[in-house]
Amino acid sequence: MNKHISDTTKIELEIPVFETPACQALTGNVFDLISDYYHHQREHSSLNKILLDDTIRQLLSKRKYSRVLDVGCGIGTYCRMLKSYSSEIIGLDTNNKMLDFARSRKDGILYINQDFLTIEEDRKYDLIIFSLILDHVENFQTYLVKAREILSCKGKVFCVIPNPVKDSCFQHDEFGCMLTSYFIEARQKKYRRNEKNQIFCEIFSFKRTLSTYLNASIAAGLSLTNIVEPRHPDINHPAHHVPYFTILEFLNERR
Ligand SMILES: C[S@@+](CC[C@H](N)C(=O)[O-])C[C@H]1O[C@@H](n2cnc3c(N)ncnc32)[C@H](O)[C@@H]1O
Repeated sequence: MNKHISDTTKIELEIPVFETPACQALTGNVFDLISDYYHHQREHSSLNKILLDDTIRQLLSKRKYSRVLDVGCGIGTYCRMLKSYSSEIIGLDTNNKMLDFARSRKDGILYINQDFLTIEEDRKYDLIIFSLILDHVENFQTYLVKAREILSCKGKVFCVIPNPVKDSCFQHDEFGCMLTSYFIEARQKKYRRNEKNQIFCEIFSFKRTLSTYLNASIAAGLSLTNIVEPRHPDINHPAHHVPYFTILEFLNERR
């Protein structure tokens, strides 16, 4: 079977909806809406599990860490994954429902309800994870600068972001397929779907180009060491043809 995209390959992607910068801020904590889904599906049947978890386990298990901070840890998926590779893991999140679900696993990990930007640290971390959080915050550069400040020398920042190509619009015509909105940087409305492909909530995130993420990381003093675009194993799944996520690994090479 031809594993490459051919002219006849049918790619079905959601067309993203962009909001003007002046659009209304969301009231309430939108992560309440997805916490139930995370609790029940994230580690069982979700697309995130299929696309990310084995790859992330492989990448993170290459070395041992003495102190890990998982920023926006959600239900603690990556904290638990790191248990055999680290002596101290802290999961940080601002959503109580997510943290309740994380704590209900009784995994012995310390989960703290605090905004990352407000933490004060004397000791350094040698791994800081930002999985699917930087796209939800407007001032993501501040997060990278703060991460660099509390990172040990040779410490690692591990980021998962939505793939900027997947988040852009495709136009199909008889001559093929064209990407039409890669350079648009805006707040974007997305729909979260369950494993039956039914929409269960709307969520806003910030659509940015890859160079925006990379240049901000470089400006924060981090060096890119690895970039991975996980691929769905099923050739019939759109994520086999277009990356849904990008994993970025950075090293702090300065003292
Ligand atoms: C899409 S979820 C991702 C959860 C988890 N990292 C994962 O990949 O499964 C984003 C999480 O980031 C949390 N979050 C957003 N802003 C935060 C902040 N400033 N500090 C700590 N957590 C934050 C949200 O409450 C939410 O649980």
